[in-house]
Formats: sequence, structure tokens, C-alpha cells
Amino acid sequence: MIEIKKLTKKYGDRTVLNIESLRVEKGETVVIVGPNGSGKSTLLKILSGTLTKTSGEIISHGDIYYLPQQCIPFRKTVRKNILFSVKNDSERIKRTDEILSLLSLSDFADRSAAGLSGGECQRLALGRVLVNDGDFLFLDEPSSAADIEGTEIIEKAITEYKRRTGCGILMTTHSPGQAKRLADRIIILHNGEIAEEGSPDELLASPKSLWGKRFIDFWKFVK
Ligand SMILES: Nc1ncnc2c1ncn2[C@@H]1O[C@H](COP(=O)(O)OP(=O)(O)O)[C@@H](O)[C@H]1O
Ligand SMILES: [Mg+2]
Repeated sequence: MIEIKKLTKKYGDRTVLNIESLRVEKGETVVIVGPNGSGKSTLLKILSGTLTKTSGEIISHGDIYYLPQQCIPFRKTVRKNILFSVKNDSERIKRTDEILSLLSLSDFADRSAAGLSGGECQRLALGRVLVNDGDFLFLDEPSSAADIEGTEIIEKAITEYKRRTGCGILMTTHSPGQAKRLADRIIILHNGEIAEEGSPDELLASPKSLWGKRFIDFWKFVK
């Protein structure tokens, strides 16, 4: 279980995150949506330990893996990028091959990761996360650089991983379709605060908060 109580992050006088309470259970997928700058990445960075909080409490149990919004490949082949991330020695080669195949990266296995396209690099970064069995995944816009096919591959890989491990997932997205497909619960973040929380059907169809309504209207407009 991951639990947050009164979590804040400030830069100078500006509060960019102010979460009263949030809980993610194992087996549950919680999807965070919200405009640029609403604090999505800040929240995942703090939860993954890559950024310090200003105040508040975080209670977490279990192995956590984090996919940052930015894909940074190691200067190695695609296969080695994955291989170096496998914790379990006896399973390294097998797991690496499985993940390469799951993410349609087998054809690139022996190429330098530096030459990958944005979408391919994003699949590689996800592969480094999914190659180990974790209790919780924090995924920051896991398919933002992917095309339609890439998005399908990524969603399938995440779904398959969750089915196999029973992990809990906290992820962000800009795609309402993705939120609907993957979420058990959606959270709308606005100005660092939870504006609204609910099941995908309820929340996407009839948001109750002002910011929820504005955000969903904007989504509909863009679609
Ligand atoms: N190092 C920093 N110094 C000052 N402000 C920052 C810093 N990092 C992030 N912010 C601000 O915090 C807010 C939330 O950022 P972020 O969590 O990346 O938003 P999101 O992921 O929802 O687009 C933004 O307004 C951003 O400009
Ligand atoms: Mg972000």
C-alpha cells in the first residue's frame, strides 16, 4: 500500500503540490490527469524518492519501480539497457528476451539505444521497469511519445505485467482513452491539488468540480 498524508512541495513561496490524502492499494490502477504544470510529475518524483518533499507523510510498503517522463537511454545496446536492469541473476537472459519481445524491441536488440526514436526509447525505458517484478509502479506518461501502435503495445505490456504481478500502479496520462482503458480510479489534479476523484465512467462522463468540468470539456474539444 502507498499512502500519502498532507504532502506538499514548495519552490520558494510557490506551492506546486498540496495533496491532503491519497492511497493506492496493490492490484489497483490509479490514473492521474491534469493540465501541464498541475504537479503530476512532481508527485511521482517525490513518491519515487528522486525529489524531496517540503512536508507531509508518505507510507509505502514493497518494491517500487519508477518510469520518469523523460527517457534517458544508457550508452549501450538496447539488449544491454534491459539486461543491466534485471535484478534476478538466474533469469536475466530469459527475462530480457521476453521483455524485448513484449515491447516489440527484438529487432533493435543489438543496436545502440542512442539511435532509437522517441517512441522506441520510451518502450525501452518501460522495459527497464517491467523486467523486474515490483509491488508498485509509478509511470509518468508512459506512452506520450508513442504512435497508435506503440501505445497499444505499451498498454498491453502494462496490463500483462499487472495481471502477472498483482502490483499497484499510479500513472499519469494526457489521453482520456488511455485513462478509461487502464484506470480503476481517475484523479484530476489542478494547481497541485486533487480537484476530483472517481471511477473512469463517472468522472469522464460527468465531472463534478469546476476544474474537472473545464478539463474534460477541453479534452472533448480537442478530440
Ligand atoms: N525546479 C523547479 N523550480 C521551480 N518550479 C518548478 C521546478 N520543477 C517544477 N516546477 C514547477 O512545478 C509545477 C508542477 O510541475 P510538474 O509536476 O512537472 O507538472 P506536470 O507534470 O503536471 O506537467 C510547474 O508549474 C513547474 O513549473
Ligand atoms: Mg509531467
